[in-house]
Amino acid sequence: MKAVVVRQWGGAEQAVIEESDVPQPGADEVLVRIRATSINPLDWKIREGYLQQYVSLPFSLGSDFAGDIEQLGDDVHDLQVGDAVYGMKGLAGGGFADYTLAKASMIARKPSTLSYTEAAAVPMGGLSAWQALFEHGHLKRGQRVLIHAAAGGVGHFAVQFAKDAGAYVIGTASANNADFVRGLGADEVIDYNTVAFEDAVSDIDLVLDTLGFEVSARSLMVLKPGGTIVGIVTPAPMDAAAERQVTVKYFGAESRRDDLEKLAQHIDGGHAKPHISHDLPFGQIHDGLHLSQQQHGRGKVVVHMGD
Ligand SMILES: NC(=O)c1ccc[n+]([C@@H]2O[C@H](COP(=O)([O-])OP(=O)(O)OC[C@H]3O[C@@H](n4cnc5c(N)ncnc54)[C@H](OP(=O)(O)O)[C@@H]3O)[C@@H](O)[C@H]2O)c1
Repeated sequence: MKAVVVRQWGGAEQAVIEESDVPQPGADEVLVRIRATSINPLDWKIREGYLQQYVSLPFSLGSDFAGDIEQLGDDVHDLQVGDAVYGMKGLAGGGFADYTLAKASMIARKPSTLSYTEAAAVPMGGLSAWQALFEHGHLKRGQRVLIHAAAGGVGHFAVQFAKDAGAYVIGTASANNADFVRGLGADEVIDYNTVAFEDAVSDIDLVLDTLGFEVSARSLMVLKPGGTIVGIVTPAPMDAAAERQVTVKYFGAESRRDDLEKLAQHIDGGHAKPHISHDLPFGQIHDGLHLSQQQHGRGKVVVHMGD
C-alpha cells in the first residue's frame, strides 16, 4: 500500500509517498480501505516539526479519512466488513494512505448523503466545531457567538452549526470570503484586514478562537462577563480572563463514534454540509498541503485515492 511518510521534519520534500505492507487490525480496531482523505493544518504542522513533543519519526502523515471497512478486529461486533465509515486519526497519523487502522470506537458510518470525498472533509473540521460550540462552549439558542476564521476548515462548519442552533453568528474573514461566510448563515462578517474585530463587536457570549496568540487576548475584550472563549490553537491569557470574569477553555478535538454519528445525522438531515475548495488526486497531495499552509483556504481541500 502507499502511505505518505515523514522521516525528517521539514518542507514538502520530507513528506514522501512510500510503499509498505497493509497492517493487521488489533482486537478493538478495524482495517479501513481509504477512498478519500482531507488536509488539515495539523498535517503540515507535524511535517514541519512543530509538534515534536507529541509525535515521533518516522511519522505516517494524515488525519481525516473516509473509506470501507475491509477487516474487523476480533472484539469488534458493532461494525461490518463493507461498512462505509469516516473518522479522524489526529496525532496518531496514517490518514494519507491506501489503508489505515482505526479503533472502532473512534469511527462511525459516514453520512449517507455524502460521497467519500465529501465525507473525508468532515472529521477534524466538523468535530472541532461541534465539540467547541456544544461540549466546551455550551452554546444556547439566542446567544451571540463570534467565530474566527469563519471561512476555514473549522470555521465554515461552526458557522453552520451555530446558526442552526439558533445563535446570532458573527464571523471574521477577509473581504474575499465575506459572501461565502454570509452564505453559510452568518449574520455579520467582519473583514479582519480593515476592521479590528474588538472595535466592531461586543456583548459576545461565546468566542470560537481558531487563530490563537494575540487574537486570543483581543477576543477577551468582546466577551460579556460570564462569557466563554474556546480556543483550539492557544489558550487565552488566564489572568486577563479572570479580571473580565470570563471562562477560558482550550482543547484538542477527539474522534468519537457518538459525535461522528451526530455529525452524520446533522448533515444527512440537511442542516450542514462541507464545502470543498479543491478535490485532488493522491499524487498531488503535496499541492493540498501547500494550499493549506497558505492559511487562506475556503472550507476544505480533499484528496481522493487513485487518479
Ligand atoms: N485543537 C484542535 O483540536 C484543532 C482542531 C482543528 C484545527 N485546529 C487548529 O485551528 C486552526 C484553524 O484550523 P482550520 O482547519 O480552520 O484552518 P484553515 O482551514 O487553514 O483556516 C483558513 C482560514 O483562516 C482564515 N484566516 C486566516 N487569517 C485570519 C485572520 N487573521 N482572521 C480571520 N480569519 C483568518 C482564512 O480566511 P481568509 O482567506 O478570508 O483570510 C481561511 O479561510 C489551525 O491552526 C489548526 O491547526 C486545532
